[in-house]
Amino acid sequence: MSGYENLLLEKEGGIAVVTINRPKALNALNAATINELDKIASQLVADDEVKVVILTGAGDKAFVAGADITYMQSMTAMDGRNWAKLAQAVFNKIENLPKPVIAAVNGYALGGGNEIAMACDIRIASENAKFGQPEVSLGIPPGFAGTQRLPRLVGKGRAKELLFTGDMIDAAEAYRIGLANKVVAPEELINAAKAMANKIMSRAPIAVQVCKSCVNEGLDVDLESGVAYEAEVFGLCFATADQKEGMTAFIEKRKPNFSGK
Ligand code: CAA
Repeated sequence: MSGYENLLLEKEGGIAVVTINRPKALNALNAATINELDKIASQLVADDEVKVVILTGAGDKAFVAGADITYMQSMTAMDGRNWAKLAQAVFNKIENLPKPVIAAVNGYALGGGNEIAMACDIRIASENAKFGQPEVSLGIPPGFAGTQRLPRLVGKGRAKELLFTGDMIDAAEAYRIGLANKVVAPEELINAAKAMANKIMSRAPIAVQVCKSCVNEGLDVDLESGVAYEAEVFGLCFATADQKEGMTAFIEKRKPNFSGK
């Protein structure tokens, strides 16, 4: 139906829900799934009906239990390097998708699973979610940018503890350290993600997109360059109809009706 073997795609009311669907392997990421994620990311960018993306895993046990260990077991050094580069490029594409991406973490988010959740803009966790980077138990470090995105999200010390021990943490702890934005009951997870998506969609779309690019661009450069970029895009937004509408609506004491132009 969706044209994908390992992914499901559902679209409704501006929201695309992408479900990683390999429940027998707890949605572990093999090459076919990574390639499909690449393809679906391009499709979602091009689809004007899609305003916000939600990424989740099939079943009630796992979001994604990591990269597929069976697939990696006999890799050579070059295979490993190419595998990391392939997935890193796809995760970068997800991180830089010009639309908000919310991870709805419905169970284990381990290794590559935690890494893909961290490439999303926001993580909403179900109470049964478990997060971790267990790679050191397999004789490898994370290879899908976990050593880079984890310290950026939770700080150096906590990231190193998780990376060195391979410990799993529950949703409450993930929330406490800033890895999860919010924790909800399992049956509420998709609705909570959709509620957040709907709230974001009620705001000015270009302004939201610009916020995303300011944060993403800014975190990789010095403060001076980051604020300079912010000033440029702040200025550009005064060329949008939505700036006129947003400020006029405020002054007229009514709700804005944004056109995304
Ligand atoms: N790769 C391949 N298969 C996996 C998998 C993975 N990452 N995780 C789970 N599976 C498979 C299991 O082999 C099992 O398959 P069979 O039924 O055919 O035996 C099935 O999914 C169900 O898993 P379990 O029976 O193990 O379920 P459990 O409830 O006992 O344990 C779990 C759940 C704690 C998540 C456990 O499956 C587990 O530890 N999985 C591996 C987690 C992991 O190490 N992830 C990191 C991978 S490395 C990585 O991601 C590297 C990177 O950065 C790129």
